[in-house]
Amino acid sequence: MKPKVYVTRKILEEGLKILKKAADIKVWDDELPPPKEILLEEVEDVDGLLSLLTDKIDAEVMNRARKLKIISNYAVGFDNIDVREATARGIMVTNTPEVLTETTADLAFALLMATARRIVEADKFVRAGKWKTWEPMLLLGQDIHGAVLGLIGLGRIGYAVAKRAKGFDMKVLYYDLYRNEKAENELGLEFVEMDELLQKSDFVSIHVPLTPDTKHLINEKTLSMMKKTAILINTARGPVVDEKALYKALVNNEIAGAGLDVMDPEPPNINNPLLKLDNIIILPHIASASIATRTKMAIMAARNLSAGLKGKTPENLVNKEVLNKIKVDED
Ligand code: GLV
Ligand code: GLV
Repeated sequence: MKPKVYVTRKILEEGLKILKKAADIKVWDDELPPPKEILLEEVEDVDGLLSLLTDKIDAEVMNRARKLKIISNYAVGFDNIDVREATARGIMVTNTPEVLTETTADLAFALLMATARRIVEADKFVRAGKWKTWEPMLLLGQDIHGAVLGLIGLGRIGYAVAKRAKGFDMKVLYYDLYRNEKAENELGLEFVEMDELLQKSDFVSIHVPLTPDTKHLINEKTLSMMKKTAILINTARGPVVDEKALYKALVNNEIAGAGLDVMDPEPPNINNPLLKLDNIIILPHIASASIATRTKMAIMAARNLSAGLKGKTPENLVNKEVLNKIKVDED
């Protein structure tokens, strides 16, 4: 009998094709994620789960999924999964790193440029019929070239953003738990402590995963250390930024602007005051959303799932410690 797999939302066909060969699959074919009650029912007899970042896969779900061997997350981030609980139950967890690095960095840079040069505001201005003439002081923004970019987190995505910044002659500072001297030499990056990064950067861009340590890393105190002309970019996870503090900083002109691809919660409440401000651009979590990359993510997530179901070590195993608990086929 083929193993059973539940897929929590429709992904691109290239991925589904691979899954269909490996398992009997059931796809939740709705625009919104499956409600918790449905998820709890559906996982009851599955061997594998393909989840999205919108699905909270916690101990309650795992307790119901008694046969579950592997959770394949269709995302590089996996803060939606309680990995410790998965490991304790001998469940493998995988993600989709690398394939989305450059696409995500493209969007982070697009957001940086759009915020600096007020692109969205300018487009709205034209459509509202406000463009009367060429004006010396119309929609003045910040220069990107020659500015200082501070990267919080120099993982793969942070590094890819640094490469783009170099093409714009930006000076790039970074803070990370780990120094990366190779990257420093390759791209001329400068490692600084967090306070110095906040004080010196014209653009601060966040590239850390969401963990208990990074939650509200950007808060009233850290925002107050930034330049009045600085712009904050977040393409990582919403809860890394304290949105109430960000709102205050933007309204009181303590910083000049922000570009967010992620929010807390997602979607934001329609009454969220950030949505009323002109000096912020908010996108609906689309950093990896190119056709090519979403196709690669679908294939990668499907391959990880198939490997796990066959009792092999998936290529992108997140919880390697689980291998101490389960037997895999080494070939
Ligand atoms: C998207 O946010 C991802 O983690 O892939
Ligand atoms: C994500 O994959 C990162 O390492 O930045």
